[in-house]
Amino acid sequence: MSLALAPSPAELVAWYAEMGITEALDETPHDHFAAAQPTSEPSRPRPTLPPRAGQSPALDARPNAAAATAPEDAAVTARAMAQEAPTLEALKEALARFEGCALKATAKHLVFADGNPQARVMIVGEAPGADEDRVGLPFVGRSGQLLDRMLGAIGLARKTDVYIANLLPWRPPGNRTPTPQEVAICLPFIQRQIQLANPDILVCVGGPAAQGLLGLTGILASRGKWSEYDTGTRRIRAMATLHPAYLLRQPLQKRLAWRDMRSLKAALEAAGGAPEPAPTARVD
Ligand code: URA
Repeated sequence: MSLALAPSPAELVAWYAEMGITEALDETPHDHFAAAQPTSEPSRPRPTLPPRAGQSPALDARPNAAAATAPEDAAVTARAMAQEAPTLEALKEALARFEGCALKATAKHLVFADGNPQARVMIVGEAPGADEDRVGLPFVGRSGQLLDRMLGAIGLARKTDVYIANLLPWRPPGNRTPTPQEVAICLPFIQRQIQLANPDILVCVGGPAAQGLLGLTGILASRGKWSEYDTGTRRIRAMATLHPAYLLRQPLQKRLAWRDMRSLKAALEAAGGAPEPAPTARVD
């Protein structure tokens, strides 16, 4: 390539941002393939590079803590820590202590939950985005505002009538889809969160949550269908619906989400305690 064609630093950064690369992760490279190799000696500590001159040991210890743990070990630790948590507060503290997921190192905040933990409906999304990461609460950005309008259309208010969390409590850099490994590591925490919140109805928002919690693939085909979710203490009704971020890109699909919201309202009414007022609003 001739020098005249080389992009300027500003063009390069703009191109990275367009491609979804919005975070500078670390100054040192990490061998994630080495970290992902199964080992017959799970507790053997992996060698880490010594800090370079001028590097902060404290900062570098964060990504290395997760990279040094084999994924299977991290999932086992996650399950044990989650099961030991007797309350939602304790579960949040356990997550804050958990070092098995590398996403923690790049996220600004742990995004645990919002809304009413006593609500009959629990909504689980995919993972925090940039706005959620900045604020520390789920679904506060544009897609969260659409979610609020969808819920409002059937008379449900975020702060009182639903409890909201995510499959993953840390933002994947650049809002990329979480890897199956990250989902497997964090799954015990969200499963315990559902068990402790003990809702009557679980709504999985988007493909990753539907797959991770309900085992559903193909969100367009599986959305709006009622199934059961076993919390470990009882079976509750569960449904997957389209992610509001997708609806923002594909506004015509809002009619499908609207069907799902009406179905949710009908399920709540059938089980007693219908939300008021009746839905008349459009989801837009
Ligand atoms: N998308 C999600 O799935 N969850 C959030 O909290 C925000 C956006």
